[in-house]
Amino acid sequence: MTPTDKPQSPAASPARREFLRQGGLAAAGALVLAGGLTLVSRRPAAARTPALAGAQGLPARVYTGPYDTKEPMSALGDITGYNNYYEFGLDKSDPARNAGTLKTRPWTVQIGGLVRKPQTVDIDTLQSWFPLEDRLYRMRCVEGWSLVIPWMGFPLAALLRRIEPGSGAKYVQFTSLADPAQMPGVQGAVLNWPYTEALRLDEAMNPLTLLAVGLDGKVLPNQNGAPLRLVAPWKYGFKNIKAITHITLTAEQPRTTWSIAAPDEYGFYANVNPAVDHPRWSQASERRIGELSRRPTLPFNGYGEQVAALYSGLDLRRNF
Ligand code: MTE
Repeated sequence: MTPTDKPQSPAASPARREFLRQGGLAAAGALVLAGGLTLVSRRPAAARTPALAGAQGLPARVYTGPYDTKEPMSALGDITGYNNYYEFGLDKSDPARNAGTLKTRPWTVQIGGLVRKPQTVDIDTLQSWFPLEDRLYRMRCVEGWSLVIPWMGFPLAALLRRIEPGSGAKYVQFTSLADPAQMPGVQGAVLNWPYTEALRLDEAMNPLTLLAVGLDGKVLPNQNGAPLRLVAPWKYGFKNIKAITHITLTAEQPRTTWSIAAPDEYGFYANVNPAVDHPRWSQASERRIGELSRRPTLPFNGYGEQVAALYSGLDLRRNF
């Protein structure tokens, strides 16, 4: 990764238009998926602010939960048009242009390893198990830019409780789809495919850690990681793996894509830390996409109150 932070204009791909059309079908507070399943946010319709209703007549989302940032949401065009998703190309505008053809239904997720209830589950079944929550989170990319993103999903902890980690389980590993037929980037050896990531089990159980299936109350756009994507907002964006096909509990710390690619630059923990520079650039500040000047980067991306205790006794310079 390089610190290129020039914003690109969002591409209005056919898939993007189809996504908006799907969104336009949504009834108040509900999200109708391609598979016909309806996702209902746990937030009551009465809590919505009609004055903020979007141009398409969709209900506005409200973000007043304990984990929601008070900062303004980034422009949707930036969130869906300025992406990192190397399976679809290296430029920030490539994912919006190329990911539309990714087939996200049918889609199964294999959950296994050290769990008491291993299973292979269809994505629509998986997301029907949990009430979906709206979460407005900051995202800080290791390259030095950031966004404020309105995710919709369910806590990873809820899934882990359901599948019951075995006694030896210490880590949760995630694997992305790597299908060269659908993902042009996978035809090259840019990274060690499939993209993999992992969290320590206690990080995975933290209430902030989300599995996202939606964005701004609608189906997650392909370029943002449909149909299932990890969100751990106190970590650099590269931990937030997209298009998850496998969730595997392990006893040993799994190897992860970016730490394999450049072990001196990208660690396993990847907690946002303004005090530890990337070997090639400073991490002290960031540029919020859509703004001109830079702002200071906060330890744990501003989520220290919720997560700092996870790392007490750990040297965060060595465990970067
Ligand atoms: N997941 C996969 N499978 N492939 C990727 O290239 N890029 C990561 C992460 N998840 C990536 C991925 C990086 S570097 C970042 S910064 C975030 O996705 C970007 O998420 P966004 O495009 O939704 O903003």
